[in-house]
Amino acid sequence: MAIISLNLVIFLALSFLSISHSTFHSTLASTTTTAATAPPPLFTISQAQQPPQDYLPDHAIFSHTSVLAPILSHLGFNELATAAPSLYSESTTATALSGPYTIFAPSDSSVRTCISCSTPSLLREHMVPGLFTADYLRKLTFGTKIETLSPGRCITVTSSSSNQTNLTVHKIFVGGVEITHPDLFNNGLIIIHGLQGYIAPLSPFSCEVERMTSLSFPFHYDRSQNNQLPQQQDVALMQFMLRDAILRLRNNGFSILSIAMKIKYAELVSLNNVTIFALDDASIFSGSYSYINNIRFHIVPNQFLTIADLERLPVGTTLTTLDRGQSLVVTTAGGIINNPMMRINYVRIKAADVIRNLNVIVHSIYLPFPHVHPMVGASDSMLGGGSQTSTVPGIDGACESLDEQGGCGLSQINHVTAQVKPHMPEIEDHHGL
Ligand SMILES: *[C@@H]1O[C@H](CO)[C@@H](O)[C@H](O)[C@H]1NC(C)=O
Ligand SMILES: *[C@@H]1O[C@H](CO)[C@@H](O)[C@H](O)[C@H]1NC(C)=O
Ligand SMILES: *[C@@H]1O[C@H](CO)[C@@H](O)[C@H](O)[C@H]1NC(C)=O
Repeated sequence: MAIISLNLVIFLALSFLSISHSTFHSTLASTTTTAATAPPPLFTISQAQQPPQDYLPDHAIFSHTSVLAPILSHLGFNELATAAPSLYSESTTATALSGPYTIFAPSDSSVRTCISCSTPSLLREHMVPGLFTADYLRKLTFGTKIETLSPGRCITVTSSSSNQTNLTVHKIFVGGVEITHPDLFNNGLIIIHGLQGYIAPLSPFSCEVERMTSLSFPFHYDRSQNNQLPQQQDVALMQFMLRDAILRLRNNGFSILSIAMKIKYAELVSLNNVTIFALDDASIFSGSYSYINNIRFHIVPNQFLTIADLERLPVGTTLTTLDRGQSLVVTTAGGIINNPMMRINYVRIKAADVIRNLNVIVHSIYLPFPHVHPMVGASDSMLGGGSQTSTVPGIDGACESLDEQGGCGLSQINHVTAQVKPHMPEIEDHHGL
């Protein structure tokens, strides 16, 4: 099946937006009660091109409802299209739809073979909140569960092999059914993949097994706290991406960072995106304890810096961190691609893009960042930092003679911190986190 061009999508969306807009006023009287109790709005696709007052939340609900069904039927999923309006009559699913979502679409012929299926519930069990491109699905840990729009029911994502060289050769399965037409549609708000069959009705225990690897989406929003609805949608996406990152970090040798992010979840979720510099558990346990009390200094809020972005930063560039008033500084600029030479606070990147999703990117580093005063440069108090956690005395220029691991006075730092923190320190040190 052909991939729909973005232009067509926008045209489709706009035409439906204007239809629902013009019919809205004539039916205003009859829909007032519905509108008053309606869930938060959905994405307003053409926000930028329209005066904001035309896009009050209640309008958006109607617009969005109108858009999904025609997109589905245009792609040939007529059975699902007929069930689309039912999504908005259930308050739980309608709330979840306030963010972007992904649909795993079974063909009409296969939906018809399921005589006992109710198409609306079939549709809900084939939809998950969040944007899951085929590429992203392939990278998920084998057996990851994702909660569908049917609360408490999860689909399981598996892929056929682990060829790291060419990810596109993997087959991806959801609920054991192959995705035969990946990324049929993607407008940044809705992703649709075509399936070979349909996913058998999900059991009420489908999320319970292997709770460790399940991504469950919060269906309850704190409405009292949030009147700005577009912001609420961003928060929903960030919640989802944070959970994904926390889960994958835990399964990939970064469980300390994972725990720290859980503790700081409330603060992180208010960000639009985040770049995190991580130390793996092994490095922390083998001496780099100071990372634990300094994690905030390793988190760059509202910047999504890939390794390519970092490599382009000139010397002296500062990066604001969550540690108030403390910035990181690029001390060596990047070099050739695939050979990351750049250093931040004299520390080299060990592995780029350890975890990466739509909003969260994590790079691992060799050592915790020492505090550097950008203005003073490499002065004696370079590593003092003035924080309660600066257990490392000044290294005065030792960083010029760097060891091969990209470290900066590695043994010295290890030695000192090991003395100061001989045992595993408390993670719940709220000053440091
Ligand atoms: C992975 O895919 C590449 C490119 O298609 C291929 O050359 C390579 O042999 C594959 N590796 C494995 C382990 O299957
Ligand atoms: C990966 O495999 C697909 C399908 O076999 C092929 O079209 C694509 O060119 C390959 N990409 C790379 C980078 O080898
Ligand atoms: C990250 O968030 C910032 C601040 O909101 C925004 O300006 C930027 O475009 C975002 N970057 C990406 C790649 O989403």
